[in-house]
Amino acid sequence: MMSALTSFLAMMSGEAVAQAGEAAAQAAPGAAGQAAAAGDAAQAAASAAEAQWSTGGTFWLPDTASATTQSTDMIFYGVLGLSIFCFVGITAAVLYFVIKYRARPGHEPEPSAHHNDALEITWTIIPSIICVFLFVFGWRGYINLATPPKHSLEIQVTAQKWSWNFSHPNGVNDAALHVPVDRSVRMIMKSQDVIHSFFVPAFRVKKDVLPRRYTEVWFKAAEPGVYRLYCAEYCGRDHSLMKTKVVVHEPGGYERYLAEKEAELQNIPPVELGKKVYDVRCVACHTTDGTPRVGPTFKGVWGTESAFTDGTKAAVDENYVRDSILDPQSQIRQGYPPTMPSFKGQLSDKEITGVIEYIKSLQ
Ligand code: CUA
Repeated sequence: MMSALTSFLAMMSGEAVAQAGEAAAQAAPGAAGQAAAAGDAAQAAASAAEAQWSTGGTFWLPDTASATTQSTDMIFYGVLGLSIFCFVGITAAVLYFVIKYRARPGHEPEPSAHHNDALEITWTIIPSIICVFLFVFGWRGYINLATPPKHSLEIQVTAQKWSWNFSHPNGVNDAALHVPVDRSVRMIMKSQDVIHSFFVPAFRVKKDVLPRRYTEVWFKAAEPGVYRLYCAEYCGRDHSLMKTKVVVHEPGGYERYLAEKEAELQNIPPVELGKKVYDVRCVACHTTDGTPRVGPTFKGVWGTESAFTDGTKAAVDENYVRDSILDPQSQIRQGYPPTMPSFKGQLSDKEITGVIEYIKSLQ
């Protein structure tokens, strides 16, 4: 239900949903205080990125930026036109008959109409033919969407509460999706926790992302630009914040992006790397200003002692942070829910070291 509503709204206008999402985040009950601090930075970053976002499309549909959108849009407008035609026609007929056959002095009620073969055959056969047409077009479009072309670029997608991770063939990981223009891209998707849904309105693709199973979706971006990517399955408190962008690069730009990302990872000081990782991976649940969110804050925790739900205690040091990232369920802090997902296989040792150094720097 939520999924259907989200997608309907997003179809109406990508912009409106983004704003609704932010408004919902701000109004989230019980999270008001904590969300404000962590949310501000994220929202400032989001609005800075907003400037370059593509804002094409019509009243009904957002930009069409993928090779497969045409068949989807054709069916949509076909069904919309048909619905308007039927709605107007039926309403007009009802009004006409209500007025023409209204009860008034001097008019006897007429007996009910009898069987009319010609009429009944007509109103059975014409809609049946229309349904067959809709089915054939819809089915062909579906088969096309369900069959990624061979030799597509493959990107691994991991969804978790409440962020996305896109892993490229050369090992680069990013929270935003970068793809080349004019090349079919196959997303191989899995979830770390609950069901999420990968939704890019401009590409007209939406697919559930499930735990313990891979799902796939493909598209071929037709226009360079920046497009919105949503989670379209209600997945918990910060579902509305689980959105990011798709950057479609000009020819050569995607290769440049991969190379730059790789070089960045080689040369960056650990604290800065840790801050970068924090901004995309940790910010949903941990603050750096001392207020608790879903998880404890990162500020001032270094060197302090933590009490766990099993009664044991440990000092916050390098191995404590590393264990918390890779095997969070082994030590649950008292007073916090056991909701943190493992980042095993998602963060390199270098990135984990960065996070440790970053936490150290937040005194
Ligand atoms: Cu993930 Cu909603």
